[in-house]
Parts: sequence; structure tokens; C-alpha cells
Amino acid sequence: MRARAEDLRRDGRTIAVVPTMGALHDGHLELLRAARARADISILTIFVNPTQFGPNEDLAKYPRDEAGDIAKARACEQRTAPGGPAPTGGIDLAFCPDASAMYPAGAQTFVEVRELQKPLCGGSRPGHFAGVATIVAKLFHITQPHVAVFGEKDYQQLAIIRRMVRDLDFGIAIHSVPIVREHDGLALSSRNAYLSAEGRQTALGLSRGLAAAEAAVKAGERDAAKLVALATAQLAGARIDYVELRDATELTPIERLERPAVLAIAAFVGTTRLIDNRVLAI
Ligand code: PAJ
Repeated sequence: MRARAEDLRRDGRTIAVVPTMGALHDGHLELLRAARARADISILTIFVNPTQFGPNEDLAKYPRDEAGDIAKARACEQRTAPGGPAPTGGIDLAFCPDASAMYPAGAQTFVEVRELQKPLCGGSRPGHFAGVATIVAKLFHITQPHVAVFGEKDYQQLAIIRRMVRDLDFGIAIHSVPIVREHDGLALSSRNAYLSAEGRQTALGLSRGLAAAEAAVKAGERDAAKLVALATAQLAGARIDYVELRDATELTPIERLERPAVLAIAAFVGTTRLIDNRVLAI
């Protein structure tokens, strides 16, 4: 993969990469479209990264369908304006390594974004973000991109990757894509496949909670505790991991909404852990 990427760069081509763990849905496809629009060559990576899963998490049962994913990615058409250029396929290259190729015996080097990795999902998933930052750094070294595309669905992950790229001088532009949702508001996630029909209804509480808080902000509410309470009130039937309002860049706690902040939710519906978030601006 790196030899291919180096050849492409030598030929003057620009490269965009979209790292994923597969089980592609329309959210991932939106990332591929954004990548396609930003570089000559787009690369999809599919790797279910063991180092970002905790011992009691869903690594073994994480949905895997590499052939189906590649077919979807290839068929994913660029949205073009009427009369514009003919739509083209979604990717040029797919990189789907084995765990043994990515983590040979003796691997012991990790990237940690010290403060941003601590709160929110970092609290309930110790080691998760070190696993994410490390694999993303490796994928960047291997695919040699000019641009990398990530979803705002994983808000803390995006903040961590932006900081890593800045702090370690990767020289890669990070482009983010807004959260893609079902018609009823549920954020698309590979883990939605685990939900029962009843759980699917309970799961709507996350996006409803965010909408309730946003409506309150529009009506003048600035108190963090009140905004959190409004969102929490929509989560009946789910087991809350956290509902928190934090500074949009540093992810530090805030008491009043006086600068852009992110309202972030993680909750279990049955055994499925779901996350969602919204940036609240005044
Ligand atoms: P994965 O969960 O497969 O997500 C891959 C990318 O798709 C991430 O950037 C994520 O934010 C984005 N994404 C997922 N659902 C989305 C939605 N509904 N709307 C917009 N974007 C969405 O995130 C990972 O994989 C891994 O942690 C990875 C970065 C690949 C490292 O292993």
C-alpha cells in the first residue's frame, strides 16, 4: 500500500483517505464522497482495530463484510450537479490489512493525546483513544494522504485526530463530515444493526435529547445543568453512560454556554452502546 501511495505522489496525484472499520452505511459513503471531491485518488481503509476495543466489548461480534463493503464503496456515486461531469465510482483503492500485519509480535508503541483522551468516552473506555490514535497514525503513514476524512458522529475521536495531526506535524488536512441520520433522527451507526425493534425506538431518545437542548438554547437557556437535564429526560429506557456539555475544542467542562460547546451523549440500549452529539452555538 505504501509503495502504491508513494508512486501516486511521485506522479503528482493527491490522495484522500477514509479510515473505517467496515460494515459500511450511508454515513461512511458520505465520507467517501467528500474524499472523492477533495483529491485525485481516494483510498478506503477497512480494519477492525483490536487495540481500540476493551476486553468486554464487541470486537469478536463486530459486523464484518469486506466484499460487500468494497462493492458498496465502488458503487457509491459522486453527487454531481445536473449537467455536470458524469458520476464516478467511489474509491480507487481499498486497504484491508490483517491484524497480524498491523500489529506484528512485539508492537509496543502507542500514540496518546493526553488530555483530550480522558473525558467522555475515554472515561468509560480506558485505552480506547490510544488505540484509535495509534491505528490512525499507522494508516496515515501507510496511505500517505494529503487529506483524511472523518465523521462528526465520533466528535471526541475527531478532536483527538486533529490534535495529533497538529502536535506531531503530520501535514495532513483533516476534513469532517456532519452526522448522517435516519429520517427519524437516529444517527447511522454500524452498531444500530444490534438493536431490537423496541430498542430502535428507545435509541431515538439520543437525537431527541439533543434536539430538546438545542431548542432550549434557541429559547435563551444557557445553564449547562439544565441543558443536560433536558437531554437526559428523553433517554427513558436507556442506561446512560454520560450526558455532558463541554467546550467544543478542549472538551473541558463548562457551566454556562458562553462559547461553542458540544453536548455529547453515550447510552446503552440493551447491550448496545450508542453515541450522539450536537455542537450548541449561541
Ligand atoms: P467507524 O466506526 O467505522 O467509522 C468510520 C468513520 O465514519 C468515522 O470517521 C466516523 O465518525 C464516521 N461515521 C460513522 N457514522 C457516521 C454518521 N452517522 N455520520 C457521519 N460519519 C459517520 O471510527 C472508526 O471507525 C474507527 O475508530 C477508525 C477511525 C477507523 C479507527 O479504527
